Parts: sequence; C-alpha cells; structure tokens
Amino acid sequence: MTQRLARVCTSYLRQQRQNIKRVDNRITPTVWTCGLKGFGTGPKSSDGDDGESEAPAAPGPTLSRFSRGSSVFGRRRPLSPLERVSQLLPQDSLSKEVWELRESKSLEEAETEEQSQKGPTKGEYHADVQSPKDDSGDVAAQMQDALIQGEETEEESRRTGAMERMMCFGEALLAEYRRNRRLEFRKMFQLQEGMKLQSNWGVIPHRDIAGRPAGTVLRTSLGLPMLLRRPSLEEFTLFMRRGPAIAYPKDASAMLMMMDVSEGDSVLESGSGSGAMSLFLSRAVGSKGSVLSVEVREDHHKRSVLNYQRWCSTWKLRRGEDWPDNVQFHHGDLINSAPLLAGRSFNSVALDMVSPHLALPSVVPHLHNGAICAVYLANVTQIIDMLEGLRCSSLPLVCERIIEVQYRDWLLAPSLKKDGTFNRRRPMSEETVDSEEDISTDEEKEELTSPKQAPFGSVPYIARPHPEQLGHTAFLVKLRKILK
Ligand SMILES: C[S@@+](CC[C@H](N)C(=O)[O-])C[C@H]1O[C@@H](n2cnc3c(N)ncnc32)[C@H](O)[C@@H]1O
Repeated sequence: MTQRLARVCTSYLRQQRQNIKRVDNRITPTVWTCGLKGFGTGPKSSDGDDGESEAPAAPGPTLSRFSRGSSVFGRRRPLSPLERVSQLLPQDSLSKEVWELRESKSLEEAETEEQSQKGPTKGEYHADVQSPKDDSGDVAAQMQDALIQGEETEEESRRTGAMERMMCFGEALLAEYRRNRRLEFRKMFQLQEGMKLQSNWGVIPHRDIAGRPAGTVLRTSLGLPMLLRRPSLEEFTLFMRRGPAIAYPKDASAMLMMMDVSEGDSVLESGSGSGAMSLFLSRAVGSKGSVLSVEVREDHHKRSVLNYQRWCSTWKLRRGEDWPDNVQFHHGDLINSAPLLAGRSFNSVALDMVSPHLALPSVVPHLHNGAICAVYLANVTQIIDMLEGLRCSSLPLVCERIIEVQYRDWLLAPSLKKDGTFNRRRPMSEETVDSEEDISTDEEKEELTSPKQAPFGSVPYIARPHPEQLGHTAFLVKLRKILK
C-alpha cells in the first residue's frame, strides 16, 4: 500500500514537472529587444530613473548615445524625424545604414551647435535668438532648428534647383504670437517699406522682416517672440477683407471633391461673394482650366476681384511666377444669365447664393450630362425649399447627398506640473488622484520647454477634444444631372 502510494506520488510529481516544462517552453519569450529609453508604461525605479540600466542590450548604440545632443546643447534638443521614427522601432530591427545615419546626424548637429556657440557667421541671422535661460527658451530651439533646416533647404535647393525666396515688400504675411500653447495674436498684413507691425505684444518695423526667410521668429519692441510666415491659401481666404461670408475652406475642399474638379476643367460659380471659392476653384482647375464667377452685387463683385488680384500679386512675389489667370469675374444675375452662358458648357457648377433653385433652370442646360452641381446652404429649411423646387420642376437633377463637414480639433500636449516641469509617467500602482489633478489644472500653463530634461517617452500627454470648436457653417448638397 505504501509502495503504491509512493508510486502514485512519484508519477504525479513527474507529470507536474513535465507540465511546468511545457508551460515554460510556451512562455519563454523571444527576446524582442527594444532599446527605447523610458518608452512605454513599464515600472521604473523609484528615484525617477528612466530605467536606462534596465534596457536590454541592443545590437547597436543604445539610446543614450542620442542623448548626446542634449548634453552638448545643455537643453532639450528636438529629435530629427529619423530619430523619432527609428526610436519607435525595435532597435535590433534597425539596419546598419540607419545606425550610421543617426550617428552622423548627431555629430553634424553637435558641430552646428559648436559653431553657433562661437558666434554668427556671415549671412546667418542671430540678432533675435534668445538665450536658453530666457522664459521662452523654445524660441531659441526654433531658431536653432531654423538654422539647421535653412542649411538643409539650401542643400536641397541646390539639388532640385528650387530656391527658397526671402520675405519681401509687397507680400501678404502672417504674424503669430503664441504664449505657452495658446495663440494670443494672429494678423495678416502686407509688408511695406516704412511701416510697422503694431500689436499689443509690441512693434516690429517691416524693414526688419524684409529679406528674412519665411518662418522667422523676431522679437517685438516688448521682447516677445513673433513668428513671421507666409499664409497658405486657406489662411489667406480666412484673413482677407470680406464682403459677404466666405465658403469655409473645410466646406470648399469638400465641394471640390464632390464636384470632382480636375485640372483643365471648366467650372461655373455663383455668387463670387468675397472670392474665396473662386480662389480654391482657380487652383483646382489650374492654368489649363477656367472658372466663370457670377455675382449680382457690384460691391461684392469688386471685392472678389480685389482679393483675387491680391493673392495673385503675393503669389508672384513669393514664387516668382504668375498665378493662373483663369477666373472670369462677371457682374450680373445668374438667374437671368442665358446670354452669358450661351455656347458654354461646364464640367461642374458651385452655387453659394440665396434661392439657388431659381438659378438652376438657366444653369442646368450648360452642365455636362452626369456632372455635379454642388450647392452650399446654411439652413436645412433652404435645402427643403430647393428640393421642393426641384420636385415641382422637370429639371434633370437628382439629389445624391446632403452633408455637413465637421472638423474636430484636438488638444494634444505634454502635461506639466504647477512649477513648469514635466509630469512623469509612473507605474500604475504609484498613480494617485493627485497626479490627475495636476494634469487638469496645469494644462493651461503647459509650456513646451522645461528646465529639466525629460527622457523621450517618459512624459504623459493631455489628449482630448479642444474646448474651442468651429460651429456649424453650412450644408453641402450634391445634385447630379441625369438624362431623363
Ligand atoms: C455667401 S456669398 C458667396 C461667398 C463666396 N462663395 C465666397 O467664398 O467668397 C453669396 C453671394 O451670392 C450673391 N448672389 C445672390 N443671388 C445671386 C444671383 N442671383 N446671381 C449672382 N449672385 C448672387 C450675393 O450677392 C453674395 O455675394
């Protein structure tokens, strides 16, 4: 009996040992080495060490080699795209070439920094570079970046033959001042000899801006950093002087897609209003295409022509070449436009006017079969009027879609403590309600720089929809011409 009991126990133990072995085999991890210092949510040593010593040995330089920038610069160095991307990958999966590139990049940047510490060389702009000890040291970093990028841009230009043009008198420019994350001031203005950029945040003479690359940060008379750059077409239309409300860029781009506007197209638009949609259409159809823009009010007609001309002249100064002269602005009523439209045909039509259904009978015969008439309407009741008008008419149009375009802005930024230093990720067990409070109360005070260097990946981020969102602008209605 005792022997049987012993046999049972021995076989049970053997079985258990085999099970454990099997489990061991199953869970033995393939070592997936990731030399990313402080990246992820894994536990860290209590003294706030970023866990570098715990990082498994990677077959190449460890991340600490990339902190060289920070030790040389003595402050946080922005990561290059190569560093950013390659750090997100398992370090042992990086090719030899990537390691070499990263190495040479670090050395180049160290040299650039050494050079900039020796003082400005001819042709470099240093007058307004802040010392890193200033309260907004991020500007120094921006300038440093601009210098490095400037060198790269020149090199690129030499290869491609596309030279970057400096900001010059006559151009429309944008001035921006941000404090912490918040945009405090933004203004579009024309750079003019003898003029000054005035703001509550100080003054900058226009002559100090002319001749500098777009994207330059200059100090105002109050010592605040002001970014000076060129507006995009979207920004130009938002900031240009207006007659009536414009078709918002988000809606305009959806309309272009809806109408399937392509290079070389012939497009009809009404009303011209302030000329925003005319500019977007002009760019979409290009130099081979054409836009006919009809406006019933003379003041609006003039405003749209002025805005169009202003963009054309700023473009010429910016690029050294003409913007396509492809928009014909016509002052007249689209509802009675039969003589104007006679003999013309259009690939698509964009209507942004009151009572568009009254204009459809004169427009539809000139629209290609199967093509689109996109209508921009602010109220749903206007859409009902238009659809009811269509129902009662014999026009060969079908309504395919009614949409509202919504963009949702998000707030995404490093979280800071009250004293301005970065919050750090902590192991789950250490996280307290306290730190959550820090994040929510401090997010408004967040700054992009901190005197204390935080290792890559160790800073938590605030990530939520922005409290200020653009409200309703319009509905877009897609009407297609069919053969009945
Ligand atoms: C909201 S605005 C258009 C804005 C324009 N899409 C833009 O992006 O700047 C509407 C314009 O349609 C014009 N309009 C209204 N009825 C019209 C008609 N029957 N013929 C031509 N234009 C008309 C108005 O005078 C007004 O300027």
